[in-house]
Order: sequence, then C-alpha cells, then structure tokens
Amino acid sequence: MSYLIGVDIGTSGTKTVLFDDRGGVVASHTVEYEMYQPKNGWAEQNPEDWWNATLDTLRAVISKSGVSAGDIKGIGLSGQMHGLVLLDKEGNVLRPSIIWCDGRTVAECDEITSTIGKDRLIEISANPALPGFTAGKILWVRKNEPQIWEKAAHILLPKDYIRYKLTGEFATEVSDASGMNLLDVPKRQWSEEILQKLQIDKAMLPKMYESCEVTGNVSGAVADKTGLTAGTPVVGGAGDNAAAAVGTGVVKTGKAFTTIGTSGVIFAHADEVSIDPGGRVHTFCHAVPGKWTVMSCTLAAGLSLKWFRDQFCTAEMETAKGMGKDPYELMNEQIDRLPIGANKLIYLPYLMGERSPLLDADARGVFFGLSAIHTKYDMMRAVMEGVTYSQRNCLDVFREMGVSFSEMMATGGGGRSAVWRQMLADVYDCDVSTLQSKEGPALGVAILAGVGAGVYGSVPEGCDAVVKKDSVQKPINGNLAEYEKYYKLYLKLYQDLKADFKTLAQI
Ligand code: XUL
Repeated sequence: MSYLIGVDIGTSGTKTVLFDDRGGVVASHTVEYEMYQPKNGWAEQNPEDWWNATLDTLRAVISKSGVSAGDIKGIGLSGQMHGLVLLDKEGNVLRPSIIWCDGRTVAECDEITSTIGKDRLIEISANPALPGFTAGKILWVRKNEPQIWEKAAHILLPKDYIRYKLTGEFATEVSDASGMNLLDVPKRQWSEEILQKLQIDKAMLPKMYESCEVTGNVSGAVADKTGLTAGTPVVGGAGDNAAAAVGTGVVKTGKAFTTIGTSGVIFAHADEVSIDPGGRVHTFCHAVPGKWTVMSCTLAAGLSLKWFRDQFCTAEMETAKGMGKDPYELMNEQIDRLPIGANKLIYLPYLMGERSPLLDADARGVFFGLSAIHTKYDMMRAVMEGVTYSQRNCLDVFREMGVSFSEMMATGGGGRSAVWRQMLADVYDCDVSTLQSKEGPALGVAILAGVGAGVYGSVPEGCDAVVKKDSVQKPINGNLAEYEKYYKLYLKLYQDLKADFKTLAQI
C-alpha cells in the first residue's frame, strides 16, 4: 500500500497526519505554539516554532505508524495564508512572521491602492489591498524596519518556509500566493506590473507551481532528523482553505464548505474567475489546476471561543481534564441548554478587527445587552451565535453575487460540534454535512501529494477515492425566524458603532 503525509501549519499548532491511499488515518500528531500580540491588533508567530513543530510531528507519525518510510510516496504542505516570512541570503529568519490576522498595515494598503489604482489592482490580483494580505506587510517592514529590510533576500509564506527547510527550494503555489496581492490571479503567475509599481524585486519571490506539482524533495539532513526517506517528493500543497476544500471534496461547481477554525471561512468552488467589486469576499486560485474559488474570511471565529475559554472557563478546563474530555465538549453542552438569542445577548466577534465582509481593521468585539441575569454560559452561547452571524453576513454576499451551491460541508474545530453545525444549518437555512474524515486541510494536501506522486490521476479523482460524507444536519423549522430577529440587530450594531470603533482606535 502507498502512504501520503499532510502537514498543516496552522495558527494554534501544526498537525501532521500519515494517511493510507484510501484516506485512512494511520497516525496523527499535533504540536501547539503561541501567537504573540505585541500591540492591540497586531499578530506574530515565530517561523522557528512552526519548523520545530513540523520536525516533532513528522518524527512522531513515522515512529507511531510503523510504516516503512520508503512507502511514503509524497508530502503535501498546508498553511495559514498571508503571513510574511523574511529570510536573509543565508536562509536565516530575520524577524517574527507578521501573520494573517494582523491589522497594522492599513496605511500601506492605502499606499498600494493609490500606486496601482483600485480597479487595476482588483483586475490583476482579483482582490483589493487588504491588511491581512502579504504585500502591505512587505511595505510595512520596508518603511518601519529598514535595517531588517536591507538584509532581506527571500519573501516566503508560512508553509513555503517549511518547504524551504524540508527541501532547500524556494517555491510556492497558486492558491496560497493568491493571498499576497502580488499574483495575477486570472493568469496564475506573479504580476510583473504590481511588482514593478511596488518596487518589489521578483528575485525575492519563490518559484510558482500548481498545487499538485512536485516542488522539491526531502533533503538528506531532514531525512536523518525525521526518519523520512531522502528524496521523498514534496508537492506545492495549498493555503489552508484551498487544502480544506480538497479534503472536503469541494473541487466541483455547486460545492461549498464552512470552516470554523481560528478564522471562519466560507469557500465555494468556481470554474471561472468571479470577483466581488467591493472586495468583501476574496477570489483566489483553487488548488485544482485551472479553477478558482470565492472565499470569505472572518478573523476571530474559533479564536473568539478559544479566547472566551482561556479567559473565563478555567474551571471547565480543569473538569474536562479530570474527565479526559475536550473542554469544548463541556462548553457545547452548556450552550445547547440555552435558548436562541442567549437570553437577549449579542456578541460582535471583531477581536482582531474584521476582514470579510466589513474590511475594518479598527472594529473590536462587543457584548451587547448584558444584564444581571446573564451567566458566563449566556456569554458563551452569544459568542457562538455572533460568530455564526458573521458567517451568515458573508454568505449573504455570496448569495448577492449569485455564487450558488447545493451542498454545504462543515469542517474545522467548530465543524466537529453538532451544536455549532445545527446553528449554521438554521442560520444559513440549508443542509450542513460533515465528512467521515475530520482531517480537512491535512487530508487535502495529502491528496495533492498523491496526485503529484501519481497515486491519483487528478485532484477530483483523488477526492472521489478518499472523501466520504457522514451526517447531514437539516435546519429546524422555526429556528431561522427566531435567529433573524437577533441577526438584524447584529447587522445594525456594527453600522451604529462603526465611527466609534475608529474613535477608539485613534485614542
Ligand atoms: C484566509 C485567512 C485565514 C488563514 C488562517 O484568507 O486569512 O483563513 O489562512 O487560517
């Protein structure tokens, strides 16, 4: 039998999974690390933490599985998108990575828009200049840290730094590169025009591949450290959302999924380039050659519930530990007991500012309607509902754009919660399904590795062999009408507070 490895370099940790060629999990290991917030609205991580986690997880899955390394036919890399990794000419990391949910580059994004022109930028990169995306981060370092910039020789995305460490190659692929504001998204290659206007040297950027192409091979040094075989092919892989799309079989028209991970994403497959002129949702290259996607991203989805857990649920975390359970299981039980609307409490999930569909780096979180009757469990339910409304707000843009789908899958940590899936089904007013494999992005890039290594003939063929549906949750009659009352107020609250968020940011 052939085996494939998927490595997912996420925000909360790196997860490496060894699969057999039918998608069965043979071994899996996760190592967590920190996200640093040096200032309100900033977010950074250490690329060395990702690399150490990758080494540890690779070692763990190989030793746990007992699989002979020679039977591992390929490795795929999935990663949090948009982060800036800067290396000097010797390949040393120059500063912590400024990651996807960092909001410091509003001024640089304005500069990009005025240099290239709003319409021209959208025409080429399919998206407006957004603070989460990489180009603004490059300009920020160039302006604010000239002593770092002058040593910079290589610009990489998070998973592509790991590729460099594994193979020695500077390479990327179209799905992740789409989130840099530097790619010609319709043509699937770096935009000479944008690079020239922003004065970014193309030689600093990695070589471009399609997601299932082989980009390099595991080096001897890495083989010695991990137990892998030197020469094992490493394919392009994908940004974590395109990777999750492949892992959930969203590789054909009519298919879509929602991820509730650290971020919240709705992702629909598109055969053609389809752009929201307002830039409220993103248009990226898909990991399927010659296909694209429409995708929304809200910044603090699972991050909101994790923040709430860490700040207010120490007791639940202790109890869960004693019971050998996941604390989120206990939290879900509490949330499920409460009525829709959390006893009239609404949460706006803008802890890191908001990207889709508001494009407002100054927005911040709000609990609205707090009363002395509320307990922390009402607040917990309000957090889950608020994140669900933020997803619905994005879905309304998809519907307005005419991006249609007949199937919605749910994935990520939130997708594993039956309570959250029911909420999504009710608020979206459509069926929400789960899959037998819960490995989303890691499975997706393992499929891509299988295509690159010749195990599967194409990405859709790999998905057909591996991705199997599980349960379907249907909207419960009457629930949508109840949620709508709160959703309308949720939408109005942001409009009412918009100017106040700006004032707060400027204090
Ligand atoms: C997508 C985005 C996030 C990150 C982290 O645009 O910013 O989903 O990829 O997961």
